[in-house]
Amino acid sequence: MFEMQATFFYALPLKLFILIANSNPKSVITNPLLHYSITPTIQRNELPKPLNIFFVGDIVGQPGLELAINLVPSYVKKYEVDLLIINGENTTEGKGIAEEHAKKIFELGTHVITTGNHVWDRWDSRKVLGADRRILRPLNYPRENGGNGYIVVDLGEKGKAGVLNVQGRVYMQPIDDPFKTADWAIAKMNEETKVIFVDFHADASAEKMAMGWHLDGKVTACIGTHTHTPTADGRILPRGTAFQSDVGMTGPYDSVLGMKKEQALKRMVMQTPHKYEVALHDVRLCAVYVQADAETGRAVKMESVVFPAFG
Ligand SMILES: [Fe+2]
Ligand SMILES: [Fe+2]
Repeated sequence: MFEMQATFFYALPLKLFILIANSNPKSVITNPLLHYSITPTIQRNELPKPLNIFFVGDIVGQPGLELAINLVPSYVKKYEVDLLIINGENTTEGKGIAEEHAKKIFELGTHVITTGNHVWDRWDSRKVLGADRRILRPLNYPRENGGNGYIVVDLGEKGKAGVLNVQGRVYMQPIDDPFKTADWAIAKMNEETKVIFVDFHADASAEKMAMGWHLDGKVTACIGTHTHTPTADGRILPRGTAFQSDVGMTGPYDSVLGMKKEQALKRMVMQTPHKYEVALHDVRLCAVYVQADAETGRAVKMESVVFPAFG
């Protein structure tokens, strides 16, 4: 019987065989890997135009900045990084980014500094935002605040790449719709490039995941920032967008989100204000590496980085 079936199928024209195979819903349902098997297995050398992106999570204070200065150059070398992006919203004493610290981050070869809600905590951050278009603030804040929310970077022979900074609204300021804002900015950047990196600065995991699905297939990567805790859900979504709910902070983990735990505990336990100070110990770098196909803008490879690793 098996021989008869085999002969029957062998004798079928190829087109008819494909039609029969595809018309059997069981072949799709019973093979959940079928959908994903074409995405992550492409090797670097097989890509027509690989473009390597390295994104460093929120730098917190001097300890985070010093570790980034020490470690980022070796990651740039390791991953042959073409586009380096660093979130700097907590660089200066945990709140905002002063000019001198932005300069140090750019000295690493950084193409774009992204930020978030804390960039507004320092008045001198606003001066920096206005002076340098490579330092982004979330685009969906009212435009009267000044600053730039997205940028297209010219990477020479590697082509162009867009970087967008948007902020969520769940448990945060009720600013403009980040989904529609992202769609608008992506359409603008698509006039120049298909490679687009999104730093989605948001608090709620649900909102971040929703944004990841909303942008799947539209951007190269959508990586969350703000919660200062790296999540273990980094992956390439089915339509080719690298996603991680939160990259985590680059700063001291002997802390509560980078701040000295003693004061943070007092705020929680006593329910009264106590001055935050940047913590000092257990400093780690959190980052994400994404390799894009520069022709299509799809992510083809992704790695989450925590150094030193936990545990
Ligand atoms: Fe942050
Ligand atoms: Fe933040």
